[in-house]
Amino acid sequence: MLTDSMRERVWAVAGSYYPEHDWAHGRSHIERVVGIALKIGKQEGADLDVIELAAILHDVFENKETHSNIEGFRHEIEGAKEARKILKRLGVADKTIDAVCHCIESHRKRTSTEPQTIEAKCLFDADKLDCIGAIGVIRCAFVSFDHGQEFYREEKDIESYKRNNIRPDGTIIDFSKHSSNLEYELSLSHVAGRMHTKTGKKLARERTDYMNEFFKKLGGEMKGTLWNL
Ligand SMILES: [Fe+2]
Ligand SMILES: [Fe+2]
Repeated sequence: MLTDSMRERVWAVAGSYYPEHDWAHGRSHIERVVGIALKIGKQEGADLDVIELAAILHDVFENKETHSNIEGFRHEIEGAKEARKILKRLGVADKTIDAVCHCIESHRKRTSTEPQTIEAKCLFDADKLDCIGAIGVIRCAFVSFDHGQEFYREEKDIESYKRNNIRPDGTIIDFSKHSSNLEYELSLSHVAGRMHTKTGKKLARERTDYMNEFFKKLGGEMKGTLWNL
């Protein structure tokens, strides 16, 4: 069990990396992921200290990746290195640090590093659960706004869009051409199939159903459908 003092010390450092106003990757996202990851971890019999430390630190460099335009900068890789430094300074045991860093390196869905440990799987699933369902819709809208995108963009030839704007690893080339419904169609609607834990799979199904329904309705309404007329 993480002591209150260690939790406070980690948050005191981590908090400065997370903007308060960022709905998608700011402090509120981190707090939700910590809560979900610990609940999944309890069900799965995982090491909760590793999960909590990893969840608190997993997106320390997300903002830097999104807003700095450093070519090739990946927040899961650089973030794991930063987390190692932070935890080392706080005197956390090397074995725990290694386990935490693996969770951070493998938490992203657009990555080649698959989660190998149960703790990494719990963090991956918790982070993805926060991309879907009602909160997923809100976060999609925020990201579209943050990148100056349309929230909804009708794309007639989705295969050609993929070829032209999505890299083989799933990352987006030109954010201004992307939109929330394209993110949903190309990525978020497939998240449930990427879950690793039994608990995560169950939770993802319900959130995916909600999101499917939302984007189905939104698509209709954007085309002028009046459901009850
Ligand atoms: Fe992330
Ligand atoms: Fe995250």
